[in-house]
Amino acid sequence: MKKPAILVACAVFPEVLLQLQQHFEVTSNQEDVAWTPAELIAQLQGKQGAFTTGSQRIDAELLAACPALKICANMAVGYNNFDLPAMTAAGVKATNTPDVLTETTADFGFALLMATARRMAESEHFLRAGLWQRWRYDMFAGADVHGSTLGILGMGRIGQGIARRGAHGFGMKVIYHNRSRLDAAAESACGATYVSKADLLKQADHLILVLPYSPEAHHSIGAPELAQMKPTATLVNLARGGIVDDAALAQALKNRVITAAGLDVYEGEPAVHPALLTVPNVVLTPHIASATLPTRMAMAQLAADNLVGFLLHGKALTPLN
Ligand code: DGY
Repeated sequence: MKKPAILVACAVFPEVLLQLQQHFEVTSNQEDVAWTPAELIAQLQGKQGAFTTGSQRIDAELLAACPALKICANMAVGYNNFDLPAMTAAGVKATNTPDVLTETTADFGFALLMATARRMAESEHFLRAGLWQRWRYDMFAGADVHGSTLGILGMGRIGQGIARRGAHGFGMKVIYHNRSRLDAAAESACGATYVSKADLLKQADHLILVLPYSPEAHHSIGAPELAQMKPTATLVNLARGGIVDDAALAQALKNRVITAAGLDVYEGEPAVHPALLTVPNVVLTPHIASATLPTRMAMAQLAADNLVGFLLHGKALTPLN
């Protein structure tokens, strides 16, 4: 029997590619060429499945041009690159990779928070530049993390992982805001208290964003929200570009409306707002929150298993529609 044809639209672990080749006729993009939407459509011709990342946009126009397509398996928990209603309308299955990256990403949330609050990047640049001449009482004095108030906007699996670390590891008071409130058992397991968004902004010493991107979440943190935060506060965005108004944030950092920020995601990434590159009080990382080898392997494996499960056995493991 002829194997179904799939497109692996990004570079992936060679061992995962080998597995896929056992089941499918695979066209792969191991060179990681950044295809234009038209090139992606051309590559998808005749393909029943696609292995994607957040970099490939799957929308109504693409779906109309790729009638053979049955499933797109995203190697990411976030899926704002998918137009889910359009995929559902076109009868195309969408899958993501939840759970396997929760703890790794929550670890990174804390790493970025610590680096931001304790000015690690800024002080390392200073040292590398040969500027360190003596110990000084206030040199790179930052903000305490232990015992402070941690605010979390978005309280899914990753938010809860961060809350557990804050409450149980760092003795923090943890407050959160989310579209829906957790039940009492979940709140107590992660030691978090529900508050309004206004109270979250006002009370947090450190605010971490982990909400999924949606048009309603666009610029959830902009100039008006930053103005409500403590001038001593730090902000960490682990969620998605577009949730923070990066231009407004750069301005707020420059004017010390808040003290510092740590960003792993950006509006229009991999481009970074040029003003962010000019302010010292921001730690910038290139969308690596889930990047440990075991976790990236687990994500790739789950995306591959979704393709095999759906195209060969009619059942995806982690369907979104
Ligand atoms: C995710 O899984 O959504 C990460 O942000 C990687 O894209």
